[in-house]
Parts: sequence; structure tokens; C-alpha cells
Amino acid sequence: MSTTTSIPEKLSTADVKEITARHTYGTWRKQKGWSPLHVVDAEDCHFVDGAGKRYLDFSSQLMCVTLGHKNRAVIQAIQDQAEKLAFVGPGFATEIRAELAKALLEVLPKGLDKFFFTTSGTEANEAAFKIARMVTGKTKIISRYRSYHGSTMGSIAATGDPRRWAMEPAGKVQGVIFAPEVNCYKCPIGHTYPGCGIACAEYIEHMIVNESDVAAVILEPVVGTNGVLIPPMEYMPRLRKICDAHGVLLIADEVMTGWCRTGKWFAMDHWDVAPDILTTAKGITNAAIPLGLCATTEKIASYFDEHFFSHGHTYEAHPLTLAPAVASINEMKRLKLNDRANEMGAYLGGKLRALQAGHPSIGEVRGIGLFWAVELVKNRETKAPFNVGADKVAGRPLLVDKVSARMMGNGVFLQSWMSHFVFAPPLIVAREDIDHGVAVFDEALSLADAEVEK
Ligand SMILES: Cc1ncc(COP(=O)(O)O)c(C=O)c1O
Repeated sequence: MSTTTSIPEKLSTADVKEITARHTYGTWRKQKGWSPLHVVDAEDCHFVDGAGKRYLDFSSQLMCVTLGHKNRAVIQAIQDQAEKLAFVGPGFATEIRAELAKALLEVLPKGLDKFFFTTSGTEANEAAFKIARMVTGKTKIISRYRSYHGSTMGSIAATGDPRRWAMEPAGKVQGVIFAPEVNCYKCPIGHTYPGCGIACAEYIEHMIVNESDVAAVILEPVVGTNGVLIPPMEYMPRLRKICDAHGVLLIADEVMTGWCRTGKWFAMDHWDVAPDILTTAKGITNAAIPLGLCATTEKIASYFDEHFFSHGHTYEAHPLTLAPAVASINEMKRLKLNDRANEMGAYLGGKLRALQAGHPSIGEVRGIGLFWAVELVKNRETKAPFNVGADKVAGRPLLVDKVSARMMGNGVFLQSWMSHFVFAPPLIVAREDIDHGVAVFDEALSLADAEVEK
């Protein structure tokens, strides 16, 4: 690292990487060996590294840059708001707060009409848990194993995947219990759809009855990072009925599935089921500024007319965070992103499915809208994955990382987790980019095929 000046005018790529890895944390990993790529620019569906190499962003970073990088309207909105009113505390009314509230009323599932703004999806879920507990007077939250709901003490407690383990038992709030997820490819309770009668939903009723004191059920309507798991049509309406029958709130975590990703404004729209609370973040501002949202029904809101709303942040409804949300919603409408997600999603899905015949390592290809997963298995009969959560936490090399690294070498960035990949390019993606990304994936899969059990 250069030591000629204490504040170098321009850091070299080597300096940037070195300082970043030495003095800042890499998330969800052992720190040793972390050597992050230096990114200098990003536009539309691509980003550029310090050496000038261009990469196709096949996962919209963390499934969040829905409109593509550097959307001009979003940038303009941030600039204008910074000039007009960058910050005022949450106790004041602002034009942009009212504007966003009006815009949200148009696109959110009907019935959600009072909003709490946060600066992340994690905080949106924290707000949801506190609200659910205050309103119902009950404590327990039911979540599901294959899930991620955030990193703080409440949201990590509700996270089913191995990111929770390091916080067990003391570093998380009490009262969260786990139900089996819906996964018709590999049912956690050994059933087969449709003969199962949606046993995974019925089991949640069994839990509610036997646990008592259940305030809410939280779920990702389509599970995101943990594998784009799509419930059968009957699941969500049944769960809604179960929650209603027992006075339990239904929280839809749409941090990843919101904002046209699945071909509807929100994934819950696929089943016409309205949650009591909906949380979201990521695509709400095209990820250009951190913003989260916790949206509640009038019934929940009215509880707080006469009860103390015991929650808040300095940055709640921060004007600078709200302006890009209004711009993003307008852009999503202008670009007809739901139609685009459906059209391009069908194209991407078709191409991914076509790979299955030639790659014995592909267990399943599944998706909805422009949100797809390819699950790798070392044995198609047993559906055994190449790696599991314990491998990830132990820092053992994952086969999906090997495949991703090969793809990065060939200029395509694709998110992976345990033993699957999540395909979620910006919704403006062109067919040629999909063709290119899938071709690079096709080539890299030879690494997985070579590891399949003979
Ligand atoms: C479904 C879901 N919920 C919550 C979160 C947490 O959001 P954030 O990282 O903005 O805190 C994420 C993040 O990936 C997510 O995918």
C-alpha cells in the first residue's frame, strides 16, 4: 500500500481493496481471505471494475437495482430533494412524505394504508414485530426455516437460515418459533404436492393452537435468497384463513419480492391475499438510497389512535430517502416493469429450463416473473445438495462459489447461496444480455457436472 501521502489524492485499485478488506467488514463471512472486487462504475445492467472490465449484473446486486443502475429520474429526484429539503425530523410533515404516501396507496395491496419508513428491510421487520406485539398483546412470532428477515436481534431471531446460528441463544429476541417452509421440490416434511393437502400450511395452524400467545406469522411470499421457493396457489389463501381464525397477524416480507420483481407490484398480488403488515425495501428506491417500509392496515393503525406508538428513528421518513421512492414508482409505471418482468422472465426461464437436459448437476429450475433459481444437486435421485448451511458458516469452499468465480472471470455476476443461484437481473434487461448471461452460466456448470455422484 502506498505510504507517500496520508490522504492520497487517488487510491489505486490495490489500495482500495486492501484498505476495504483490512478496515471494513465483509458481511456474512470469515474475514480472512476477503478480497472484494473494486467497482468503479455501474450503468443499466452492467458494472465496471477498477481495471475497466465490464460485468453483466445478473442479480441486480442483492436483487435490488430493479430499474438498472444510474436511472436518471431517480438520480434527479435525489439531487432535487437534496437542494430543496435534505433533512427534517420525523415529527414534521413534508410534501415528499405526503407524495410518497399517495403513491404507495396506489400500488400496495389494498387495505394497507398507514406507513412507517425505515432505512432498511431489517428495520422494517423490526417495526413489524414491535407493532404486531403491541397491537395483539401477544408475543410469539412464527417464521419458517428457509428464510431471511434481517440482521438485528429481532429480525435475525426470525431468520431461519444459518445466519441466525451465531446469535444463538442469547443474541436474539425470544419468542420466535419456526415452521417448515413450503418447498414442493424437496418438502421438509416429506410430502408430495398436490396429495399433501398443503400440510405445511396446516402445520402452522397446529403450531398456533399448541403454542398459544402467537402474535404473527412472517413469511417471504416467494422465498428469496433461500431459493426462490414459490408456494402452490392454495397456500397463501389457506394461511390467511388460518391467521384470521386465530387472531394472528400475517406479515409479508416483500423486501426482495416487491417492486415488480415477480411480475406484480407485490408477490402477494399473485394470490389476491392482503397481509396485515407488509414490509419492503431494496427496489423501493432502486437501492440508490437506503429506504425500508412497514405498511399496516387501518385496523392496526387505529389501535394506535388511543395507544402509545412506541417506535421511531431519527431518520424515519428522511426526505432524501423518500424522493427516490416516488421517482422509482413513476419509472416502474412508465417502463411497464410488471409486463417486462413477465415477458423477460418467461424468456429467461425458458432458457434456464433448456439447460437442464445437458447438466446432470441441475436439480430444479423454478421462477416467477424475473426471479429464478437454479438448484444444484450432486444426485438427482436423492436431491442431495453440494453444500449445506454448515459448510457456509464453517467457511468451507462452496461449489456454487466455484461456479460464480468462473462466471465472474467471464464477465457475469450471479448471486448464489448454499447450493443454488438466484437470477434476478434488472427488469430492463435485454434479450441479448440474457442470452449472454445464460451462455456463461452454461459453460461454468461443467464445474458442477464434474462433481456429480457417479
Ligand atoms: C426477504 C428479506 N427480508 C429482509 C432483508 C433485510 O433487508 P436489509 O438488508 O435491507 O436490512 C432482506 C435482505 O436481503 C431480505 O431479502
